[in-house]
Order: sequence, then structure tokens, then C-alpha cells
Amino acid sequence: MIYGIGNDILEISRLSDYKRSTNLALKVLTAYEYDVFKNLSESKAIKYLANQYVCKEAISKAFGTGIRNEVIFTNMEIHRDSLGKPVLTPLGKLKELMENEQITSTHVTISDTNMHSLATVVLETG
Ligand SMILES: CC(C)(COP(=O)(O)OP(=O)(O)OC[C@H]1O[C@@H](n2cnc3c(N)ncnc32)[C@H](O)[C@@H]1OP(=O)(O)O)[C@@H](O)C(=O)NCCC(=O)NCCS
Repeated sequence: MIYGIGNDILEISRLSDYKRSTNLALKVLTAYEYDVFKNLSESKAIKYLANQYVCKEAISKAFGTGIRNEVIFTNMEIHRDSLGKPVLTPLGKLKELMENEQITSTHVTISDTNMHSLATVVLETG
């Protein structure tokens, strides 16, 4: 059963200042994700940050909460599987919330252009 859906879109130019984006990255990314960010060229890092950011905002909308309580940026880690598909790994209290709410599947999809990042998320129970 569908628990919730969420989407988000971001103009990548809002992150074009790499120094300011690094500060945002420290707030929005997990330690693993920050490591990925730091090892990319500036333009690729900005796009990566934009994509991680829209995923996390879309996830927060799928929960119906926005970014608050357990549903915070640093409790969401988004990897890419061997085929490039984004996969959410919940951390800390978000993991507990998902267990309590019996959310068994999370579907995340991202699209980007040079101008925009967009993500759609579906959470499923049972
Ligand atoms: C819910 C949230 C993710 C919305 O994101 P946003 O980028 O501000 O705004 P968007 O235009 O993408 O989305 C707004 C829409 O989200 C929807 N929305 C609002 N609260 C929602 C909720 N709890 N659940 C699902 N959808 C929600 C509404 O449709 C809203 O449109 P409306 O205001 O016209 O009704 C936002 O409130 C939030 O929690 N942002 C966190 C931002 C933050 O912490 N930034 C600091 C970075 S370090």
C-alpha cells in the first residue's frame, strides 16, 4: 500500500557558489555523502548536492512531515546501486520511524539538467 509520495525541484544556480554549497553540504549530507561530494570536481559536486537535496526534501514530503523530528537530512543517506538507481538508507531515528510505520519499500527517482534537479519518492507499506 502507498504510504506517501513526494517530489521536489531545485534551480541548480542557487548552489553555484561552491564555498556556500560546501557549508550547505555539511548540513545536508551524511559523512559518507560528504566524502563523495568532496571527491568530485566543483561542478559535479554542486549537481550531486542538488540531487541529494531534492531527494531528501521529496522524502520529507512523502512522510507528510517536511524536514523535522526524525525526518532530518542527516538521517537520510542516498546511495546509487550498481545500475545507478538511487536507494535510501535510513539512519538513526528515521530507521526506527520506518520500522514503526511499517514502511518496507522506498522508491526514489531523480532527473537533472544543467539548470534543474528534480526528485520523486514513493514510500510503501506491507
Ligand atoms: C515541506 C518542505 C520540504 C517544502 O519544501 P520547499 O522547498 O520549502 O517548498 P516546495 O515549493 O518544494 O514545496 C512546497 C509545497 O510542499 C507541500 N508541503 C508542505 N508541507 C508538506 C508536508 N508536511 N508534507 C507534504 N507536503 C508538504 C505543499 O504542497 C507546499 O505547497 P504550498 O505551500 O503551496 O501548499 C519544507 O517545508 C521543509 O521542511 N524544508 C526544509 C528546508 C530546510 O530545512 N532548509 C534548510 C537547509 S539546511
